[in-house]
Amino acid sequence: MDPHTTSKTPRKCRDCHTNTKSMGLGYGAISFSGKDWDFIPATSIALKIFGQDKRLDAFVNKDGKPLVHTSRSGLRPFNKAELNRIIQVGLCLPCHNKMTDPVMKNWKGANPPVPCQNFIDIFKVP
Ligand code: HEC
Ligand code: HEC
Repeated sequence: MDPHTTSKTPRKCRDCHTNTKSMGLGYGAISFSGKDWDFIPATSIALKIFGQDKRLDAFVNKDGKPLVHTSRSGLRPFNKAELNRIIQVGLCLPCHNKMTDPVMKNWKGANPPVPCQNFIDIFKVP
């Protein structure tokens, strides 16, 4: 998130829900198996070449483990449960991308909507 960046135009849904850098995971790509998501960092090859083991663009790994110490109490990256919820919304955004869409309007965190047939067809959910 960019808490210190303010502007008149709000950020797009996808700037948070499908942008792995905003989520704290760093640059890379999310894949979805039909059941679980996975994150493939874009920087892995460069790290290997330079003999590094720390990804400097990441605040948290895909298991929700913080990778950076912070200097203020209570300041932390998203945990696994939060990442799961943010990414789950992102999976539906290609087609349900407005807060007025019934899918987004009725979304309850603990009880997300059941994916529609369109989603199942595209992601080949088993
Ligand atoms: C490829 C496009 C696409 C994706 C991705 C997609 N949907 Fe849909 N969904 C549709 C379309 C088209 C409809 C039918 C038209 C409508 O109701 O907006 C629909 C309808 C629905 C409905 C019924 C809405 C109603 O009117 O009651 C639900 C619930 C739903 N989707 C859930 C989801 C969820 C949850 C996800 C993500 C996991 C998702 N969809 C992803 C295209 C998609
Ligand atoms: C600035 C970043 C940001 C933007 C922009 C954003 N979201 Fe979110 N959204 C979040 C975060 C963070 C959560 C909370 C995740 C959690 O802890 O459950 C969330 C949660 C949600 C939830 C789940 C709510 C619930 O009850 O659990 C829905 C649905 C959602 N967002 C839809 C949208 C849609 C649609 C848009 C665009 C119109 C949007 N978001 C734009 C960051 C964002």
